[in-house]
Amino acid sequence: MQYQLLGRSGLRVSEVCLGTMTFGTEWGWGADKHESFKIFESFAGAGGNFIDTANRYTEGSSEKYVGEFIESDRDHWVLATKFTLKDRNDDLNFAGNHRKNMMRSVRASLKRLNTEYIDLLWVHMWDNTTPVEELMRGLDDLVTRGLVHYVGISDTPAWVVSQANTIADFRGWNAFAAIQFEYSLIQRTPERDLLPMAKALGLAVTPWGTIGGGALTGKYLRGESGRVPDHSIRRSEHSSIIAQTVVDVASELGVTPVQVAINWARHRDQVMIPIIGASKEKQLADSLGCLSFKLPQEMIDRLNEVSKIELGFPHEFLKSEGIKEEAFGGLYEKLENHRN
Ligand SMILES: NC(=O)c1ccc[n+]([C@@H]2O[C@H](COP(=O)([O-])OP(=O)(O)OC[C@H]3O[C@@H](n4cnc5c(N)ncnc54)[C@H](OP(=O)(O)O)[C@@H]3O)[C@@H](O)[C@H]2O)c1
Repeated sequence: MQYQLLGRSGLRVSEVCLGTMTFGTEWGWGADKHESFKIFESFAGAGGNFIDTANRYTEGSSEKYVGEFIESDRDHWVLATKFTLKDRNDDLNFAGNHRKNMMRSVRASLKRLNTEYIDLLWVHMWDNTTPVEELMRGLDDLVTRGLVHYVGISDTPAWVVSQANTIADFRGWNAFAAIQFEYSLIQRTPERDLLPMAKALGLAVTPWGTIGGGALTGKYLRGESGRVPDHSIRRSEHSSIIAQTVVDVASELGVTPVQVAINWARHRDQVMIPIIGASKEKQLADSLGCLSFKLPQEMIDRLNEVSKIELGFPHEFLKSEGIKEEAFGGLYEKLENHRN
């Protein structure tokens, strides 16, 4: 296991993070406590120190299990949890990014996790309502009070994250160190704005769903069962062609499809720390095998080709030959170090 600095912070985290949305059986497809512990032990044994949960996962069981598992060596672990999503039905203030829910949710998480502090608190998703100043000032208060050490944001448009970090920087508040979003061979749209933004702002990227919930292992092509329903976009005709290419590349390299899929998501020239999900210990062991090799460029090119997307406006427009020549007078040919 190698380690990475989390964005512009000095925090050291393992190069992969353990996802624990599968800890607990409440959602119908997770692992029981015994299997969850085996997954946790396997990750710890491989040198992992970075663990991801959320207030909402498996109705609180995930946080409770994680709290128990890390208790004997709490300070060793970089513990990340999230707030935003509802903890109670029929109460509008028990969800969202506003200060009242933030403080309430963090207090409840600390209790379930049985700890005095959270290393990294994620805003789980953008709620389209809370003013960005309220969000950033609330998070800064949690850091100042020592309840939270670092903050990150997940599932949020790039323009909101840019605005939030710019305001935080100018006001001397804690800014986001990391960003979380779905990114895989079957979900490449973050290449439009989220990934370039993360690079420009120095945010660590911790992608989720790098194996498409299991679809990129090829198990559905073989008729095996799993948690992704057959009507899911992750199992569409196009996704299946991509999954088949992953399977082919893996067999040519003598590795497993899950290792190819995760490594593809790690290959970019910016800090990429995949959050690895598993419902069985042997799945995690398989995924961790991705750490022992790098994908050859020709395989990356093949995977890029089969999964390519349109970047859309303004990216395609700015890249077009006409614009480069007409608007900038051939600048890109003459400049050696243009940025993109
Ligand atoms: N911020 C967010 O909104 C957000 C959203 C989702 C997840 N997350 C985080 O990211 C983590 C990972 O997300 P994810 O679980 O959705 O995505 P994932 O890593 O793409 O998929 C994990 C699933 O793939 C299957 N799998 C894993 N290894 C396998 C193997 N070797 N062979 C066959 N199947 C295998 C398992 O499903 P089966 O049970 O079907 O075998 C497993 O539960 C979560 O635990 C959570 O911490 C964050």
